[in-house]
Amino acid sequence: EKGGYEHFMIKEIHEQPKAIKDTMTSRIIPDSDEIKLDDIKLTSDDIKNIDKIFIVACGTAYHAGIVGKYVIEKLARIPVEVDIASEFRYRDPIINERTLMIVVSQSGETADTLAALREAKKSGARVIAVTNVVGSSAAREADDIFYTWAGPEIAVASTKAYTTQLISMYIIGLYLARLNGNMSVEEYRTIRDEMIQLPEKVEKLLEEKEELQKFADRNHMHKDMFYLGRGLDNAVALEGALKLKEISYIHAEAYAAGELKHGPIALIDDGIPVIALATQGELFEKMVSNIKEVVTRGAKVIAFALEGNTDIEKVAEQVVYLPKTISLLTPILSVVPLQLLSYYVAVTRGCDVDKPRNLAKSVTVE
Ligand code: F6R
Repeated sequence: EKGGYEHFMIKEIHEQPKAIKDTMTSRIIPDSDEIKLDDIKLTSDDIKNIDKIFIVACGTAYHAGIVGKYVIEKLARIPVEVDIASEFRYRDPIINERTLMIVVSQSGETADTLAALREAKKSGARVIAVTNVVGSSAAREADDIFYTWAGPEIAVASTKAYTTQLISMYIIGLYLARLNGNMSVEEYRTIRDEMIQLPEKVEKLLEEKEELQKFADRNHMHKDMFYLGRGLDNAVALEGALKLKEISYIHAEAYAAGELKHGPIALIDDGIPVIALATQGELFEKMVSNIKEVVTRGAKVIAFALEGNTDIEKVAEQVVYLPKTISLLTPILSVVPLQLLSYYVAVTRGCDVDKPRNLAKSVTVE
């Protein structure tokens, strides 16, 4: 049932091109300007009435929500707040009939996420559930549904569910932007055509394992690692650090790179591994300076950058290049080598990657 793979996690990492394709097909159609969302019934008038969006979730799904905030605000120009479900439900958030809530949950059964959904509905919000399980509680209780078609995810650490959740954020963002008049058809076509190429680019990335294995061989005995990024890279850094913590039990911290000098740079000392993401074109030079800052203090940096940005080799010890795409879509690509990196580190350490200690696949208690 592991299809020749040693663990479910690595099998599911390799299933991502298909999962992404399945989640896009039928919704984003080549040569068509229409976005088809069968289970979302929001009309153009409904969307114009929305003055605020909450994305609420836990864990990895919350990290997909952080990307969702960037994407939806950028495309649809509607203010978005992202919340951890167990915080949202106890903090008396401001919700009314003009609020749209998006809950993101692979299982559709996470107790805190469901409680937040119910809270929002009680206050009159419209709720979209992004979930991977047909007929799950989240799907049944929400007004609208976006199914991620990742297929069953067995490994405790979420991989293909996350990338399909990212796809849901892009598609919902595009949908809102088209219907509220914030995006021209030309802009839509540019993003659509780039999205359609993503499965192939992920496929290509899955072949690049050498640098990551080398990183694992060199660094698996370290007790701490840092993840740095700016903008969307920061959101992906959070997910990368969570993956490493969960399956390898190494302490990992993700920081917005601009925050370094406000405290965490004090932790950088000789030999500490730093995983730096530098995929955001307009922030590239800033990331290069941040990498220099940590290298000067002894950090060993593995950097992730888009093909062609070879300047990064002047500062980083190791570089992994990602196929080129637009800045908005890089999270789909950059998270894949981070998943592999965690996997190789955990395997090299001899950890039980599919069933990490203390964790359950679905958290149905509060
Ligand atoms: C991490 C992980 C968890 C889940 C979280 C939410 O790899 O799997 O952080 O993302 O427990 O679960 P769902 O999405 O089922 O609500």
